[in-house]
Amino acid sequence: MSSLTSARASAPVRPGDGVEPGPTDTGAVFDAALAGRCHRLVRGDGLVLPLAVQRWHDDADGDDAWLLERCSGATLDLGCGPGRLVVALADRGVAALGVDVSVQAVERCLERGAAVLHRDAFERLPGEGRWQHVVLADGNIGIGGDPVALLRRCRALLADGGTVLLELEAGADLWCGTAYLEGPDDLTVREAGGPWFPWAVLGPDGVDAVAAEAGLEVAERHQTADGARCFVTLTPA
Ligand SMILES: C[S@@+](CC[C@H](N)C(=O)[O-])C[C@H]1O[C@@H](n2cnc3c(N)ncnc32)[C@H](O)[C@@H]1O
Repeated sequence: MSSLTSARASAPVRPGDGVEPGPTDTGAVFDAALAGRCHRLVRGDGLVLPLAVQRWHDDADGDDAWLLERCSGATLDLGCGPGRLVVALADRGVAALGVDVSVQAVERCLERGAAVLHRDAFERLPGEGRWQHVVLADGNIGIGGDPVALLRRCRALLADGGTVLLELEAGADLWCGTAYLEGPDDLTVREAGGPWFPWAVLGPDGVDAVAAEAGLEVAERHQTADGARCFVTLTPA
């Protein structure tokens, strides 16, 4: 995800607005994005974030190098999408496993030979407490809508000396709430039957406080040459 833009009109009905939502199926929401039906994420406060759907489908590129170079041992990619980072790590001889709730993401991973589990990041995972690195790339700090809870989860997955490689939203602060995805011609996932879902956004200014609450600290920071993508390495405090 990149660059915050302005709000839009005609949002879907929000939970509490008189329509009772069903259970959130985040996998189905992201299935629609991966199938090309949604290009933007609309936050509950009206701000719009473009989704980098094409990047998720593409192979890892030069902007991913900083993150990939910091994965030297067994790596878990939470919300791996179609698996571009899992494949790139395997190509470098690094054992990597992707985890994703989206059927589309898992199918694409399997097509390109990426090791993947169809599972929620908060469900039981193999090797808990033994991963050298946990990756949260391209907005995935949003998973679950509570960055502190997600980072605590990541910390619990790590072995001693392990790190979290986290991508941040350039120019953003901390925001937590509910969001929905929308596609071209104002066709929203809600109109296709999908719900609002809990999500969060975290930028460079908010990361130290969030990491500290999760028992982590920022060990390293990096921004790509064009300033569009920001990364940090987090280590247990
Ligand atoms: C913003 S995309 C990022 C894709 C990938 N990390 C990349 O950089 O190419 C978010 C991904 O997180 C997945 N996701 C959302 N909630 C999740 C959850 N609770 N557990 C696991 N994966 C989740 C979505 O299905 C989607 O594939």
